[in-house]
Amino acid sequence: MQLTLRIQRFNPRRDERPYYREYTIEADAMERVLDALNTVKWEQDGTLTYRRSCGHGVCGSDAMRINGRNRLACKALVRDHAPRITIEPMLGFRVLKDLVVDMEPFFEKYRQIKPYLINDDEPGETERLQSPEERHRYDEGTKCILCGACTTACPPFWVNPGFLGPATLVNAHRFVFDSRDRAASQRLEALTSRNGVWRCRTVFNCTEACPRDIEITRLIEDLKRGLLFDKM
Ligand code: FES
Repeated sequence: MQLTLRIQRFNPRRDERPYYREYTIEADAMERVLDALNTVKWEQDGTLTYRRSCGHGVCGSDAMRINGRNRLACKALVRDHAPRITIEPMLGFRVLKDLVVDMEPFFEKYRQIKPYLINDDEPGETERLQSPEERHRYDEGTKCILCGACTTACPPFWVNPGFLGPATLVNAHRFVFDSRDRAASQRLEALTSRNGVWRCRTVFNCTEACPRDIEITRLIEDLKRGLLFDKM
């Protein structure tokens, strides 16, 4: 089929403001939007810039707005968006070039909640054991690939870029409810700060945007309940 890609372009060294450029290509309906971007880059315009790596929804590097919604380009099929696809960078982050945004503020917040297992107890002879029920408690959050699609779909984040955001809160959930972890109290300062979990207004945009189908809003509500009822 004939496919038109309307892509937001911006080179801060040259352009005063972003603009849109259209490309028409031949594409198969079952191709992914990432394939269509590759066709443009490899056959029409090598200056087009975007991130991608795994190509299979694992690395999280190609999150972008596809017809107005945050998607991974490698998981979005052409047939679901054709014949005309508008592609833009995620909202709320500084655009470095075309579809590439500066993710450093995102990861800076992620680091605030200490996203790793902390346990200074003397380890036993074997691994730290955990029951299937204890593992299930935080299982949902382990699916996060840190693509940023949820955080940049979140209205409270748009109006307050200091908000930790859904992705960071999902990862906080993953560790504070891990029975092997001993550092929930160390994470409380960030979680209860003015930019912490209470900034969430339960909009559900994050859940809709997540390419891994994580029930993000439910996990954030779980965190809030844990804080309110001292379950951490
Ligand atoms: S390229 Fe890795 S998630 Fe899409």
